[in-house]
Amino acid sequence: MKLKLVLTLIVGLFVVSCVAELQRFEHAAKPDGSLSFLVVGDWGRRGLYNQSRVSRQMGIIGEEIDIDFIISTGDNFYDNGLTGVHDPAFHESFTDIYTAPSLQKQWYTVLGNHDYRGNVEAQLSPILRKMDSRWLCLRSFILNAGPEMAEFFFVDTTPFVSKYFIEPKDHVYDWKGILPRNNYLNNLLMEVESALRESSAVWKIVVGHHTIKSVGHHGNTDELAIHLLPLLQAYEVDLYINGHDHCLQHISSSESGIQFMTSGGGSKAWKGDVGTWSNPQEMKFYHDGQGFMSVEMTQTEVDIKFYDVFGTVLHKWTTSKQLSFAI
Ligand SMILES: *[C@@H]1O[C@H](CO)[C@@H](O)[C@H](O)[C@H]1NC(C)=O
Repeated sequence: MKLKLVLTLIVGLFVVSCVAELQRFEHAAKPDGSLSFLVVGDWGRRGLYNQSRVSRQMGIIGEEIDIDFIISTGDNFYDNGLTGVHDPAFHESFTDIYTAPSLQKQWYTVLGNHDYRGNVEAQLSPILRKMDSRWLCLRSFILNAGPEMAEFFFVDTTPFVSKYFIEPKDHVYDWKGILPRNNYLNNLLMEVESALRESSAVWKIVVGHHTIKSVGHHGNTDELAIHLLPLLQAYEVDLYINGHDHCLQHISSSESGIQFMTSGGGSKAWKGDVGTWSNPQEMKFYHDGQGFMSVEMTQTEVDIKFYDVFGTVLHKWTTSKQLSFAI
Protein backbone atom coordinates (compact mmCIF):
# COMPACT_ATOMS: atom_id res chain seq x y z
CA MET A 1 0.00 0.00 0.00
CA LYS A 2 2.72 2.39 1.09
CA LEU A 3 4.93 1.33 -1.82
CA LYS A 4 2.10 1.94 -4.26
CA LEU A 5 1.65 5.45 -2.90
CA VAL A 6 5.36 6.20 -3.18
CA LEU A 7 5.39 4.88 -6.74
CA THR A 8 2.39 7.00 -7.65
CA LEU A 9 4.14 10.02 -6.21
CA ILE A 10 7.31 9.32 -8.16
CA VAL A 11 5.41 8.76 -11.40
CA GLY A 12 3.42 11.93 -10.69
CA LEU A 13 6.57 13.99 -10.16
CA PHE A 14 8.08 12.57 -13.31
CA VAL A 15 5.05 13.52 -15.40
CA VAL A 16 5.02 17.01 -13.91
CA SER A 17 8.70 17.54 -14.66
CA CYS A 18 8.19 16.35 -18.25
CA VAL A 19 5.64 19.00 -19.03
CA ALA A 20 7.58 21.75 -17.28
CA GLU A 21 6.33 25.17 -18.16
CA LEU A 22 8.20 28.34 -18.85
CA GLN A 23 8.16 30.82 -16.01
CA ARG A 24 5.38 33.40 -16.40
CA PHE A 25 5.18 37.07 -15.55
CA GLU A 26 2.31 39.54 -15.73
CA HIS A 27 2.45 43.20 -16.63
CA ALA A 28 -0.75 45.24 -16.46
CA ALA A 29 -1.61 47.58 -19.32
CA LYS A 30 -2.45 51.22 -18.59
CA PRO A 31 -5.97 51.97 -17.29
CA ASP A 32 -7.01 53.00 -20.84
CA GLY A 33 -6.00 49.53 -22.07
CA SER A 34 -2.93 50.66 -23.98
CA LEU A 35 0.64 49.49 -23.57
CA SER A 36 3.94 50.89 -24.79
CA PHE A 37 7.55 49.83 -24.54
CA LEU A 38 11.00 50.29 -26.02
CA VAL A 39 13.29 47.63 -27.46
CA VAL A 40 17.08 47.92 -27.42
CA GLY A 41 19.74 45.31 -28.12
CA ASP A 42 23.50 44.75 -28.25
CA TRP A 43 24.34 47.58 -25.88
CA GLY A 44 26.66 47.09 -22.87
CA ARG A 45 29.84 49.05 -23.69
CA ARG A 46 30.18 51.42 -20.71
CA GLY A 47 28.50 54.20 -22.67
CA LEU A 48 30.91 54.02 -25.59
CA TYR A 49 30.03 53.71 -29.28
CA ASN A 50 27.03 56.01 -28.79
CA GLN A 51 25.45 53.78 -26.14
CA SER A 52 24.94 56.94 -24.05
CA ARG A 53 23.41 58.84 -26.96
CA VAL A 54 20.99 56.01 -27.65
CA SER A 55 20.14 55.93 -23.95
CA ARG A 56 19.45 59.69 -23.90
CA GLN A 57 17.00 59.42 -26.80
CA MET A 58 15.36 56.37 -25.23
CA GLY A 59 14.79 58.51 -22.14
CA ILE A 60 13.10 61.25 -24.19
CA ILE A 61 10.91 58.93 -26.27
CA GLY A 62 10.19 56.79 -23.19
CA GLU A 63 8.79 59.90 -21.49
CA GLU A 64 6.84 60.99 -24.58
CA ILE A 65 5.00 57.70 -25.06
CA ASP A 66 4.89 56.86 -21.34
CA ILE A 67 6.46 53.42 -21.62
CA ASP A 68 5.44 50.55 -19.37
CA PHE A 69 8.65 48.54 -19.72
CA ILE A 70 11.77 47.95 -21.80
CA ILE A 71 12.86 44.84 -23.67
CA SER A 72 16.52 43.99 -24.22
CA THR A 73 17.21 41.60 -27.10
CA GLY A 74 20.52 40.46 -25.54
CA ASP A 75 24.26 40.95 -25.84
CA ASN A 76 23.83 42.91 -22.67
CA PHE A 77 27.52 43.10 -21.72
CA TYR A 78 30.47 43.21 -24.13
CA ASP A 79 32.71 41.54 -24.92
CA ASN A 80 32.28 38.56 -22.69
CA GLY A 81 29.13 38.93 -20.58
CA LEU A 82 29.63 39.39 -16.84
CA THR A 83 32.45 37.74 -14.90
CA GLY A 84 30.17 37.37 -11.86
CA VAL A 85 27.47 39.21 -9.91
CA HIS A 86 30.04 41.77 -8.71
CA ASP A 87 31.37 42.62 -12.16
CA PRO A 88 31.38 46.47 -12.26
CA ALA A 89 30.17 46.26 -15.88
CA PHE A 90 26.65 45.78 -14.52
CA HIS A 91 26.69 49.33 -13.15
CA GLU A 92 28.96 50.84 -15.76
CA SER A 93 26.97 49.54 -18.74
CA PHE A 94 23.44 49.36 -17.31
CA THR A 95 22.59 51.17 -14.07
CA ASP A 96 24.79 54.24 -14.70
CA ILE A 97 23.81 54.51 -18.39
CA TYR A 98 20.01 54.17 -18.54
CA THR A 99 19.43 56.89 -15.96
CA ALA A 100 16.48 58.85 -17.42
CA PRO A 101 13.37 58.82 -15.21
CA SER A 102 11.29 57.19 -17.96
CA LEU A 103 13.73 54.26 -18.13
CA GLN A 104 13.27 53.40 -14.45
CA LYS A 105 10.86 50.64 -15.44
CA GLN A 106 11.04 46.89 -15.57
CA TRP A 107 13.57 45.58 -18.10
CA TYR A 108 12.78 42.17 -19.61
CA THR A 109 16.02 40.75 -20.87
CA VAL A 110 17.28 37.72 -22.79
CA LEU A 111 20.85 36.54 -23.27
CA GLY A 112 22.95 36.94 -26.41
CA ASN A 113 25.95 34.94 -27.59
CA HIS A 114 28.34 37.44 -25.96
CA ASP A 115 26.54 36.95 -22.63
CA TYR A 116 27.19 33.20 -22.96
CA ARG A 117 30.92 33.96 -23.08
CA GLY A 118 30.75 35.07 -19.47
CA ASN A 119 29.11 33.81 -16.32
CA VAL A 120 25.51 33.20 -17.39
CA GLU A 121 24.26 32.44 -13.87
CA ALA A 122 25.40 35.91 -12.82
CA GLN A 123 23.03 37.63 -15.27
CA LEU A 124 20.19 35.37 -14.15
CA SER A 125 20.93 35.93 -10.47
CA PRO A 126 18.46 37.59 -8.08
CA ILE A 127 21.49 39.39 -6.61
CA LEU A 128 21.52 41.63 -9.69
CA ARG A 129 17.82 42.29 -9.21
CA LYS A 130 18.62 43.43 -5.67
CA MET A 131 21.29 45.81 -6.96
CA ASP A 132 18.97 47.24 -9.61
CA SER A 133 15.32 46.22 -9.35
CA ARG A 134 14.71 46.99 -13.03
CA TRP A 135 16.77 43.98 -14.07
CA LEU A 136 15.03 40.74 -15.00
CA CYS A 137 16.95 38.30 -17.17
CA LEU A 138 15.96 34.69 -17.78
CA ARG A 139 16.91 32.23 -20.47
CA SER A 140 13.31 31.76 -21.69
CA PHE A 141 10.07 33.01 -20.20
CA ILE A 142 6.56 34.28 -20.89
CA LEU A 143 5.22 37.75 -20.25
CA ASN A 144 1.48 38.26 -20.32
CA ALA A 145 0.63 41.94 -20.72
CA GLY A 146 -2.80 43.42 -20.52
CA PRO A 147 -3.94 40.80 -19.40
CA GLU A 148 -4.49 38.83 -22.60
CA MET A 149 -3.71 41.76 -24.86
CA ALA A 150 -0.17 40.77 -25.70
CA GLU A 151 1.81 37.69 -24.85
CA PHE A 152 5.59 37.81 -25.18
CA PHE A 153 7.54 34.58 -25.60
CA PHE A 154 11.19 35.19 -24.76
CA VAL A 155 13.35 32.45 -26.27
CA ASP A 156 16.97 31.60 -25.46
CA THR A 157 18.35 31.44 -29.02
CA THR A 158 22.13 31.09 -28.48
CA PRO A 159 22.06 27.31 -27.82
CA PHE A 160 20.38 26.79 -31.23
CA VAL A 161 23.44 28.03 -33.11
CA SER A 162 25.71 25.09 -33.96
CA LYS A 163 28.88 27.01 -34.73
CA TYR A 164 29.26 28.11 -31.09
CA PHE A 165 29.54 24.41 -30.21
CA ILE A 166 31.39 23.09 -33.26
CA GLU A 167 33.88 25.89 -33.89
CA PRO A 168 33.98 28.15 -30.80
CA LYS A 169 37.34 29.57 -32.00
CA ASP A 170 39.08 31.15 -29.01
CA HIS A 171 35.81 31.84 -27.19
CA VAL A 172 34.74 29.93 -24.12
CA TYR A 173 30.98 29.54 -23.75
CA ASP A 174 29.26 28.85 -20.45
CA TRP A 175 27.04 25.90 -21.40
CA LYS A 176 26.20 24.97 -17.80
CA GLY A 177 22.53 23.97 -17.74
CA ILE A 178 22.39 23.58 -21.55
CA LEU A 179 23.92 20.14 -22.03
CA PRO A 180 22.99 17.71 -23.43
CA ARG A 181 22.15 20.28 -26.06
CA ASN A 182 19.52 18.26 -27.95
CA ASN A 183 17.50 17.69 -24.77
CA TYR A 184 17.67 21.36 -23.92
CA LEU A 185 16.53 22.46 -27.39
CA ASN A 186 13.78 19.83 -27.67
CA ASN A 187 12.39 20.76 -24.26
CA LEU A 188 12.56 24.45 -25.05
CA LEU A 189 10.74 24.00 -28.37
CA MET A 190 8.05 21.92 -26.63
CA GLU A 191 7.62 24.55 -23.94
CA VAL A 192 7.41 27.36 -26.48
CA GLU A 193 4.94 25.40 -28.58
CA SER A 194 2.67 24.61 -25.66
CA ALA A 195 2.74 28.25 -24.50
CA LEU A 196 1.90 29.46 -28.03
CA ARG A 197 -0.86 26.89 -28.36
CA GLU A 198 -2.47 27.92 -25.07
CA SER A 199 -2.16 31.64 -25.63
CA SER A 200 -5.38 33.57 -25.98
CA ALA A 201 -3.66 36.94 -26.34
CA VAL A 202 -4.63 39.21 -29.23
CA TRP A 203 -0.99 39.90 -30.10
CA LYS A 204 1.70 37.24 -29.98
CA ILE A 205 5.27 38.49 -29.92
CA VAL A 206 8.37 36.31 -29.85
CA VAL A 207 11.66 37.82 -28.68
CA GLY A 208 15.09 36.26 -29.16
CA HIS A 209 18.64 37.47 -29.57
CA HIS A 210 19.41 35.94 -32.95
CA THR A 211 17.95 36.93 -36.29
CA ILE A 212 15.61 34.69 -38.22
CA LYS A 213 15.68 36.91 -41.30
CA SER A 214 18.31 39.60 -41.81
CA VAL A 215 20.50 41.16 -44.48
CA GLY A 216 22.99 42.38 -41.88
CA HIS A 217 26.47 41.04 -41.13
CA HIS A 218 25.20 37.82 -39.51
CA GLY A 219 22.32 37.28 -41.93
CA ASN A 220 19.62 34.65 -41.35
CA THR A 221 20.01 32.12 -38.56
CA ASP A 222 19.32 28.81 -40.30
CA GLU A 223 18.82 26.82 -37.08
CA LEU A 224 16.01 29.18 -36.03
CA ALA A 225 14.49 29.21 -39.51
CA ILE A 226 14.35 25.41 -39.34
CA HIS A 227 13.26 24.82 -35.74
CA LEU A 228 11.59 27.96 -34.40
CA LEU A 229 10.03 29.66 -37.43
CA PRO A 230 7.54 26.83 -38.17
CA LEU A 231 6.07 27.29 -34.67
CA LEU A 232 5.73 31.04 -35.16
CA GLN A 233 3.94 30.41 -38.45
CA ALA A 234 1.68 27.66 -37.08
CA TYR A 235 0.51 29.78 -34.14
CA GLU A 236 0.22 33.03 -36.10
CA VAL A 237 2.78 35.08 -34.25
CA ASP A 238 2.60 38.77 -35.16
CA LEU A 239 6.15 39.92 -34.46
CA TYR A 240 9.55 38.34 -34.12
CA ILE A 241 11.89 40.81 -32.40
CA ASN A 242 15.66 40.24 -32.22
CA GLY A 243 19.07 41.86 -32.00
CA HIS A 244 22.44 40.27 -32.97
CA ASP A 245 22.90 42.32 -36.15
CA HIS A 246 23.94 45.79 -34.99
CA CYS A 247 21.34 47.66 -36.96
CA LEU A 248 17.65 48.51 -37.16
CA GLN A 249 15.69 46.46 -39.65
CA HIS A 250 12.18 45.46 -40.70
CA ILE A 251 11.49 42.52 -43.00
CA SER A 252 7.85 41.74 -43.76
CA SER A 253 7.36 38.12 -44.68
CA SER A 254 5.10 37.31 -47.62
CA GLU A 255 4.70 33.65 -46.56
CA SER A 256 3.07 34.56 -43.26
CA GLY A 257 1.86 37.55 -41.29
CA ILE A 258 5.06 37.68 -39.22
CA GLN A 259 6.99 40.95 -39.14
CA PHE A 260 10.71 40.48 -38.46
CA MET A 261 12.09 43.41 -36.47
CA THR A 262 15.77 43.82 -35.59
CA SER A 263 16.63 46.24 -32.79
CA GLY A 264 20.34 45.65 -32.27
CA GLY A 265 21.59 49.23 -32.41
CA GLY A 266 22.25 49.82 -28.70
CA SER A 267 25.93 50.71 -29.17
CA LYS A 268 28.62 49.68 -31.70
CA ALA A 269 27.26 49.76 -35.26
CA TRP A 270 28.17 50.97 -38.74
CA LYS A 271 29.41 47.58 -39.88
CA GLY A 272 29.06 48.65 -43.53
CA ASP A 273 28.18 45.07 -44.36
CA VAL A 274 24.66 44.98 -45.73
CA GLY A 275 23.44 42.35 -48.17
CA THR A 276 20.40 42.40 -50.40
CA TRP A 277 17.15 40.59 -49.67
CA SER A 278 15.92 38.22 -52.33
CA ASN A 279 12.44 39.76 -52.36
CA PRO A 280 12.78 43.57 -52.28
CA GLN A 281 9.06 43.93 -51.51
CA GLU A 282 9.62 42.24 -48.15
CA MET A 283 12.51 44.53 -47.22
CA LYS A 284 10.81 47.44 -45.51
CA PHE A 285 13.69 49.17 -43.76
CA TYR A 286 17.39 48.90 -42.88
CA HIS A 287 19.49 51.35 -40.89
CA ASP A 288 23.19 50.58 -40.62
CA GLY A 289 23.69 52.51 -37.40
CA GLN A 290 22.67 52.98 -33.78
CA GLY A 291 19.16 53.40 -32.47
CA PHE A 292 16.19 51.65 -30.91
CA MET A 293 12.55 50.77 -31.47
CA SER A 294 9.27 51.71 -29.80
CA VAL A 295 5.99 49.82 -29.74
CA GLU A 296 2.62 51.33 -28.80
CA MET A 297 -0.31 48.98 -28.75
CA THR A 298 -3.99 48.53 -27.98
CA GLN A 299 -6.32 45.55 -28.47
CA THR A 300 -6.80 46.59 -32.08
CA GLU A 301 -3.62 48.34 -33.20
CA VAL A 302 0.16 48.11 -33.04
CA ASP A 303 2.39 51.08 -33.93
CA ILE A 304 6.11 50.56 -34.31
CA LYS A 305 8.77 53.21 -34.80
CA PHE A 306 12.55 53.06 -35.22
CA TYR A 307 14.73 55.96 -34.04
CA ASP A 308 18.35 56.93 -34.61
CA VAL A 309 20.78 58.56 -32.10
CA PHE A 310 19.15 61.95 -32.70
CA GLY A 311 15.69 60.61 -31.85
CA THR A 312 14.62 61.02 -35.46
CA VAL A 313 11.97 58.54 -36.57
CA LEU A 314 13.49 56.59 -39.45
CA HIS A 315 10.69 54.10 -40.08
CA LYS A 316 7.10 53.55 -38.97
CA TRP A 317 4.85 50.58 -39.29
CA THR A 318 1.23 50.10 -38.20
CA THR A 319 -1.08 47.11 -38.22
CA SER A 320 -4.55 46.53 -36.89
CA LYS A 321 -6.90 43.68 -36.00
CA GLN A 322 -10.67 43.58 -35.79
CA LEU A 323 -11.93 42.93 -32.30
CA SER A 324 -13.54 39.55 -32.48
CA PHE A 325 -16.37 38.78 -30.09
CA ALA A 326 -17.15 35.33 -31.42
CA ILE A 327 -15.79 32.40 -29.47
C1 LIG B 1 27.66 58.18 -33.21
O1 LIG B 1 26.59 58.65 -33.98
C2 LIG B 1 26.92 59.61 -34.97
C3 LIG B 1 25.63 60.04 -35.64
O2 LIG B 1 24.98 58.97 -36.24
C4 LIG B 1 27.89 59.01 -35.97
O3 LIG B 1 28.28 59.98 -36.91
C5 LIG B 1 29.12 58.51 -35.22
O4 LIG B 1 29.98 57.85 -36.12
C6 LIG B 1 28.70 57.53 -34.13
N1 LIG B 1 29.84 57.13 -33.36
C7 LIG B 1 30.22 55.85 -33.25
C8 LIG B 1 31.44 55.59 -32.43
O5 LIG B 1 29.63 54.94 -33.80
